[in-house]
Amino acid sequence: MTTEGRRAPGPRGIPLLGSLPQWKARTAEFLLQTQRDHGEISRLQLGPVTVHLVTEPDAVGRVLKDNSSNYVRGTLYEQFRTVMGDGLLTTDGELWRSHRRTMQPVFLRGAVAAIGPNVVQATQEMLDGWEEKARLGQPVDLVTETLRLTLVTLSRSLFGYDIRPQSRVLKEVVDNVIEVMFKHGTVSEMLPEWMPTKRNRLIKRDRQIFTRLVEEIRRQHADTGEGALMALIEAAKDPVTGRGWTDEQVRDEMLTLYLAGHETTAVALCWTLVSILLNPSVQEELDAELEQVLGGRIPEPGELDSLPYTCNVVDEALRLYPPIWIYPRDTVAADELGGYHIPAKSSVLLSPLASHRNPRYWDNPEAFDPRRFTPEAVKSRPRMAYIPFGAGARMCIGNLMALMELRMMVAMINQRFRLSLVPGNFLRYGDSSISLRPVTEVLAIPSSRTSGRTAERVA
Ligand code: HEM
Repeated sequence: MTTEGRRAPGPRGIPLLGSLPQWKARTAEFLLQTQRDHGEISRLQLGPVTVHLVTEPDAVGRVLKDNSSNYVRGTLYEQFRTVMGDGLLTTDGELWRSHRRTMQPVFLRGAVAAIGPNVVQATQEMLDGWEEKARLGQPVDLVTETLRLTLVTLSRSLFGYDIRPQSRVLKEVVDNVIEVMFKHGTVSEMLPEWMPTKRNRLIKRDRQIFTRLVEEIRRQHADTGEGALMALIEAAKDPVTGRGWTDEQVRDEMLTLYLAGHETTAVALCWTLVSILLNPSVQEELDAELEQVLGGRIPEPGELDSLPYTCNVVDEALRLYPPIWIYPRDTVAADELGGYHIPAKSSVLLSPLASHRNPRYWDNPEAFDPRRFTPEAVKSRPRMAYIPFGAGARMCIGNLMALMELRMMVAMINQRFRLSLVPGNFLRYGDSSISLRPVTEVLAIPSSRTSGRTAERVA
């Protein structure tokens, strides 16, 4: 492979810091501006670090699939590691492969359909709580509600565990974890782990909370046998030692799944609901489809294919607001992407947010339009122009589960309630954070659907 390519264009930045100030101030806007000004492969200087932002679809395909062995987890994933330990998200090589193989069966299509009743139950519990708010004309915070909903669903579905009594504590832990993982460049981050800095105390406390939780879930599984993934994990054998996973390995994988699986899905659901209520024509078309196909019944996972518009609404929300909106890789050897030289041991940044708003593939990219996902429209675009779940071997293990949950939840919420945003809501995203979570709460007032039928309840 030749690595003679040219130097990629990019913003000039200022001496020593390069573009770091803009990056820190408004990361999302800076990325979009860079793509507009310098194209689909650009070179950013962030302090001492050189990073290439890559959104050109063939180049994205090369990084994630065709030459993926040259693009490994890197510096940012080290940050994750201090908190999550060695789980699917942070490891490479044989350890990753064998753990992924062990857990994959629970995330295949047939197995995912089996968690439908958990999705229905958790969504109904949330919506039952909204009845009182609707009666009093009071708002719900969509961020808090969706986080709780997806946490409860994930915990029951994968681990057979009812996490409701601990959901408040866990929310706090997750918020801390995100804060810790994304506090870059502070002095405290550079001090060794054993020093009692505020950051290190928080990490230790959060890991202890998770360790206790995992112990309780495992005890319960031993008694009841509940939890499809728990059963696979407990039966797993390490390919090298032939022994079961260590307690630390079990904890790290469970922690990874709790963290990677619920916040992402919640963020997607929150933006989907906001997008629907900001676009009355979408709301109308969605209502019409739900009424025509379901007539008030709760959907089964197996019939989601007969709700194409509902599916496309979710697809479009994942385009405009991809929960994992940036993720990096580090190069092993030098490479060439789109004719540009990518040095060895440098970072490459993929950004679903920038890819999904690239005007070359998306007309009027800022507009919310589910029609972009009709089968014909999808065929007309390069596959790698749309990467909410990544691609290749490291594609999100939970993508089918997330899509099923989102489609069911969107259908059920819209069957029972109308939402209206409380005026003055501040719909901002894109600070340096793990997900594209709205920066503040999103308050919406639910009102029960008076016209049309109310979705049936499961006893
Ligand atoms: C809308 C919801 C979700 C989105 C947008 C999302 C997005 C992503 C993306 C982009 C990656 C690839 C990261 C990379 O290549 O560096 C990823 C990986 C991963 N996701 Fe998701 N995810 C979602 C839901 C879930 C769920 C429900 C689970 C599990 C219950 C999950 C577990 C994971 C894990 C374990 C990985 C690492 C996979 C590996 O490297 O083998 N995610 N996710």
